[in-house]
Amino acid sequence: MRPVELSSPLVRLDQPTSGDAEAIFEYCQDPLFERVLTVPWPYGREDAASFISGYVPAGWASDREYTWAVRAPGSPELIGVIGLRVPSGSIGYWVGAPHRGHGYIPEAQRLVADWAFSTGVVDAITWQCVPGNIASARTARKIGFSFVGEMPADHPHRDGSFPPAWTGRLLATDDRAPKAGWPADVVAD
Ligand SMILES: CC(C)(COP(=O)(O)OP(=O)(O)OC[C@H]1O[C@@H](n2cnc3c(N)ncnc32)[C@H](O)[C@@H]1OP(=O)(O)O)[C@@H](O)C(=O)NCCC(=O)NCCS
Repeated sequence: MRPVELSSPLVRLDQPTSGDAEAIFEYCQDPLFERVLTVPWPYGREDAASFISGYVPAGWASDREYTWAVRAPGSPELIGVIGLRVPSGSIGYWVGAPHRGHGYIPEAQRLVADWAFSTGVVDAITWQCVPGNIASARTARKIGFSFVGEMPADHPHRDGSFPPAWTGRLLATDDRAPKAGWPADVVAD
C-alpha cells in the first residue's frame, strides 16, 4: 500500500524523511530506549538513515508494517514514531523525551486504530511493553485497551529472546473508554 497521512487537531502522522534523520538519531540516544524498545543499540546515524530510506518504505510496500512520523500540526519537527505490524496488529511507538506528557501518543494511537479498523487492515490491535513501563501502559489504557496480562513478547528482543511482556488488546468493536483490570500503578493518579 502507499503511505497514508492521518491527522487531528493534536497530531499529524506522515512519512519520515531524510530531514528527520538527525532528530531520530538524537532521540534514540535516550538510555531508556535500550531497555523498553527493540531499536538497534547503540543507535547510530546509519540506523536512522536506513530506518527512513529502507525499513519504513519497505514495510508499506510489503504491507507488513505501517510506520509514521509523529508531528505536531503546523510544525515540521518529528517528535516521535508509531508503527502497526500486519497481520499481527502489534502497535509500537516512542516520543522524544522533550515531547512526553502532552498526549501525543494516545492521540496517534486513536488515529492509527480508527484508520486500521475502518479500512479493515486489522480487527484487533495488540499492545505490549516491558513489565513496569507505566508511561506506555497509561497510553494504552487511556485509549481503551484491555489488559490481558503478562505473556511472552510477540516479537523478539535484540538477543533473539521473547521476554515476558505486559500485553493489552483493543478490538474494532471495543468502545474507547478505559477498561477495568489494569495494574494499580497504571491506574493511579
Ligand atoms: C510511552 C510514551 C510513548 C508515552 O507518550 P506520551 O505522548 O508522552 O503519552 P502521554 O502524554 O499520554 O503520557 C503518558 C504517561 O507518561 C508519563 N509522563 C508524563 N509526562 C512525562 C514526561 N515529561 N516524561 C516522561 N513520562 C511522562 C505519565 O505517566 C503519563 O501518564 P498520565 O498522563 O496518565 O499521567 C513515551 O513516554 C515514550 O516515548 N517512552 C519511551 C519509549 C516507550 O516506552 N515506548 C513504548 C514502548 S511499549
